[in-house]
Amino acid sequence: MSVNLQGLKDNARKTAITELQACMADGTSLSLALKQAHWNVKGPNFIAVHELLDEVKDRLDPQIDNMAERIQQLDGVAVGTVEEVARATRLKPYPTDLTSVADHLREITDRFRSYGERVRAAIDTTDDAGDASTADVLTEASRQADKDLWFLQSHLD
Ligand SMILES: [Fe+2]
Repeated sequence: MSVNLQGLKDNARKTAITELQACMADGTSLSLALKQAHWNVKGPNFIAVHELLDEVKDRLDPQIDNMAERIQQLDGVAVGTVEEVARATRLKPYPTDLTSVADHLREITDRFRSYGERVRAAIDTTDDAGDASTADVLTEASRQADKDLWFLQSHLD
C-alpha cells in the first residue's frame, strides 16, 4: 500500500530514496565492521574499547532503521540484505586480519569519516531536491556519527 505523501515533488521523493538507500548501505557496512572489531580487538584498554565499539553500534543501528523507515514512507523499498549491502556500500572492505586496539580504531575511525562525509553530502542533496524531512533524518545520523567519531578518535590520540 502506498503512503503517497502530499506536497512532496516526485523528484524530491526519488532523490531521497536513492540517497537514503546509499547511506543505509554504508551505515550497515560500518555497523558490521564495528562488530568485527568488537569481537577481534585485543590489547591495552581492551574492555573499554570492546564495550565502546558495541555502544557505538547500538547508536548507529537506530539511525539506519530511521533511514529504512523513511524510504518506506516515500513508497520505496528499503534494501538491507547482506548481499545487496556488499554490492552497494561505498566503504572500503573491512580487514579480517587485525587484532590490535590501535589498528582496529584506525580502520574504524577511517570508515566513520567516510560515512560522515557521505551522509553530509546526502543532507545537501536531499535538501536541495526539496525533502527537508529526509535531510533531517540524515542530519540526526550525521550528528550522531560525528559524536561517535570523537569518542573513538579520543582513544587514539
Ligand atoms: Fe559482544
